[in-house]
Amino acid sequence: KIPIIMDCDPGHDDALAMLWALSEPEKLEIKAVTIVAGNQTLEKTTRNALRVLTFAGVHNIPVAMGADHPLMRPSIFEEGVTEMVHGQSGLDGPAMPEPGFAPKKMSALQLLIKTIEESEEKITLVPTGPLTNIAALFLVRPDLKEKIERISLMGGGAYTGNWTPAAEYNIYVDPEAASIVFNSGVPIVMAGLDVTHQAYITREENEILRQKGGRIAVFAAELIDFFSRYHYEVEKLPGCTIHDACAVAYLCHPEIFVEKQCHVDIELEGSLTAGTTVCDPGNYEGKEKNATVLYGVDREKFAELFIEAMSKLDK
Ligand code: BDR
Ligand code: CA
Repeated sequence: KIPIIMDCDPGHDDALAMLWALSEPEKLEIKAVTIVAGNQTLEKTTRNALRVLTFAGVHNIPVAMGADHPLMRPSIFEEGVTEMVHGQSGLDGPAMPEPGFAPKKMSALQLLIKTIEESEEKITLVPTGPLTNIAALFLVRPDLKEKIERISLMGGGAYTGNWTPAAEYNIYVDPEAASIVFNSGVPIVMAGLDVTHQAYITREENEILRQKGGRIAVFAAELIDFFSRYHYEVEKLPGCTIHDACAVAYLCHPEIFVEKQCHVDIELEGSLTAGTTVCDPGNYEGKEKNATVLYGVDREKFAELFIEAMSKLDK
């Protein structure tokens, strides 16, 4: 069983990633959930995480609030520009209960430190939002890197962006934090847009999910109903990309992904390219391979496993 900490900004796909992780108790154990501002403000992303966990009947995983803005840059989400993707609440669409429990009275940083220190085994971090909390951890407690097995994150893209032509949202929001994380020496699995744009659910597959009929299955289908609008109407993609779920799915089903080890660094200054994950699969620079970049996934298998994961939680 892999002990994980999910660091997230729910967000439809963060919520689906969390549900997927909950559905694989024989493979994953969620030790803590730490929250970052990203898809919406910190208050909203925290409330969303608590509501999803409450809906899933989970009250015993500690949740803590983290960074409410990036390390060095102004927040994008405060301008309201993310509403077109995730709605005003950050998780528009399905009806959800009010949070059934409160976040811990400690910061995300404190909860990360406590969980990592108290664990007998090395912890795997699963960040699916901007990397601010994780960068803060490495700045404050670099000694704890030794107790981290690896970081399986959603962010970046070797060949494309989705917020600027060159940058993916999570990295674009806080490139300095991403730079600290990618240069930390901790092994990284990068589920970037190359793979997440292949990890989509079609309209037909979402109907199959809905027909499963359980509460979680229907809830997941409703999350996809809302989230997919942006993918179809704005991004013109062939389905609803469940970006963040890739960071979880890789840990449970690595065999369905195509991966390549390479050096990845973050562009901080480019006037057109700030926040780009510069990947070097050709090893032109001969630098240390600090990341496993996911370049592809067996899409049909991904969709099948996703539907299975969502329906499993109803049993
Ligand atoms: C990432 O940005 C957010 O919209 C999603 O939750 C995902 O983490 C995709 O670029
Ligand atoms: Ca996210």
